[in-house]
Amino acid sequence: MRSPPPLPRRHALALLALPWCAAPRAQAPASPVLVRFSHVVAPDTPKGRMALRFKALAEARSRGRVLVQIYPDSQLYGDDDEMEALQLGAVELLAPSLSKFGNVGVPAFEVFDLPFLFDDLAQVRRVTQGPIGQELLLRLDRQQMVGLGYLDNGFKHMSAGRPLRTPADFRGLRLRVQASRVLSGQMRALGAQPVVLPFGETQRALAAGVVQGAENPLSNFLTQGLAPLQRDLTLTRHGYLGYAVVTSQRFWRRLAAPDRELLAGALADAIDESHRQAEDTERQALETLRQLPGVRLHSVDAPQRAALRAAVQPVYDDFERRVGADLLRAVERAKAQTP
Ligand code: SIN
Repeated sequence: MRSPPPLPRRHALALLALPWCAAPRAQAPASPVLVRFSHVVAPDTPKGRMALRFKALAEARSRGRVLVQIYPDSQLYGDDDEMEALQLGAVELLAPSLSKFGNVGVPAFEVFDLPFLFDDLAQVRRVTQGPIGQELLLRLDRQQMVGLGYLDNGFKHMSAGRPLRTPADFRGLRLRVQASRVLSGQMRALGAQPVVLPFGETQRALAAGVVQGAENPLSNFLTQGLAPLQRDLTLTRHGYLGYAVVTSQRFWRRLAAPDRELLAGALADAIDESHRQAEDTERQALETLRQLPGVRLHSVDAPQRAALRAAVQPVYDDFERRVGADLLRAVERAKAQTP
């Protein structure tokens, strides 16, 4: 199947707003299906690898009738315009971090940003794979999106030009955050100044001194080339980073039922494989970082961790006021369930 070359993003969004450029009508089961999957991270990350595996599975299972084109590294769309591109039909699949759904009207997703809420990925999965996770995906309906599943990246750590072990270490630093009120509140509570920037601009902003630090899981820290810019990486493991894989209602509803099933199955299997490799992926990234000259890794002891947790309590209070204490209580109950 031939596919059109992608247009520059602004041009594509403007064109797609015109009625004669709308996506084709409902396809018969045997029609070719094009799935453009845009994301902002490098191919060699949990999300990048999951996208490649999804492509391989969907194309093989459809015997080439489904074509998946992947645009990594904000090549096509970035944090600022990818959701709009999805709604306009310029791409069919995205996997934004959960932190980015507050900005499009579903602040409940920011519960996953609360610092020190989760101890491990098993706790996260009890929430995402259970009724709370499913209910949150259904809320995307109001944004004309269909939530197809959750994908873990891992836990975030703090980096800067000095170790960040206690609230006093954060004082006065400008730190890049995603567009999430919880994450901005977290940095303020620690005494730093949050600066909201698209992921794709973080490396340049660090190089130019616009910001002095950031929070990232190891895979993003490594693949964005932050190591030469951030001498000190403190293994705070203070917050979770994960994704919701989403498509547009328009695309999903126009697919024939067997194609929806094929794509959903390929995605579920690709996510499952990624989750089974999560611990190895994290271990390898840490090993790579230990070998890198110029990066100093710092650990956080129990009293330091307790001081950081105490400092961010106002973020929990604010979340409860804005979004609701019920959701937080339900997440706590789900976390505690025995598998
Ligand atoms: C991502 O992993 O998709 C990006 C997260 C970020 O913006 O920090």
